[in-house]
Amino acid sequence: MEKDVLNVENLNVIFGKKRILKNINFSIKEKEITVILGQSGCGKSSLLKSLNRIIEEEGGKIEGNIIIDGINFNDIPLQSLRTKIGLVFQNPTIFPFSIEKNLTYALKYHNNYDNKEIEKRKIELLKQTKLYDEVKDNLHMFAGKLSGGQKQRLSIARCLSVKPKIILLDEPCSALDVKNTMFIEEMLKELKDKYTIVIVTHNLAQAKRIGDNIIFMDNGEIIEIGKSEEFFNSPKKTLSKEYIQYMGT
Ligand SMILES: Nc1ncnc2c1ncn2[C@@H]1O[C@H](COP(=O)(O)OP(=O)(O)OP(=O)(O)O)[C@@H](O)[C@H]1O
Ligand SMILES: [Mg+2]
Repeated sequence: MEKDVLNVENLNVIFGKKRILKNINFSIKEKEITVILGQSGCGKSSLLKSLNRIIEEEGGKIEGNIIIDGINFNDIPLQSLRTKIGLVFQNPTIFPFSIEKNLTYALKYHNNYDNKEIEKRKIELLKQTKLYDEVKDNLHMFAGKLSGGQKQRLSIARCLSVKPKIILLDEPCSALDVKNTMFIEEMLKELKDKYTIVIVTHNLAQAKRIGDNIIFMDNGEIIEIGKSEEFFNSPKKTLSKEYIQYMGT
């Protein structure tokens, strides 16, 4: 049995007078893929952004406890928290540099690697994100010239470069074609050996293919949480049933 890597206890997030996350409680085990589902505006992105405290930079107030690897997040310095929990946004975030520099920048900045190690890690990241064959002869190309799917995989590679404990992905495939979506799903299944993954998607077929656990949210609350097969085969709550039926798989 793997151990808990994340415990969220009575999490509330408030903007001004509006509570957008209400009494959220869940735990995540190491090396599992957890999928967050729910209608637009229910708080999925806000939940991810709370876990690495980016929501506070947007003016949100966090109440409750988030415990990572047994340590309360209030006791973890911000930079270290963001190294432990990497967030990949829906729109790929790449630097206006070459492909190579996008990878090595984070490696040089966050790790004390020497040049030989940086080279080795760079190749490993490209292979992990299935970019290697596509870009190995063009590493000095401006990363802005990559396709959307390649940019998304590069931004995942950048996130992985600091070896986070938990990777959060917010709708990483929403703008991608089938080929890039399959690349990302295959990659996530492989990364599961080493990382704990939380992914938001509106694609139920994708959730079924890759998810070990489902968190289903509505209006800032968790409605149902459980193993993926159970959620899809025998949802317990009316809202979950309606959601599965409406989103249709
Ligand atoms: N910076 C902010 N200030 C005020 N309210 C916010 C802020 N960010 C999010 N909210 C509110 O929090 C609620 C949840 O938004 P969130 O973006 O987390 O939803 P979501 O489930 O990710 O939706 P989608 O599926 O469309 O991405 C919404 O009502 C939104 O208006
Ligand atoms: Mg969102």
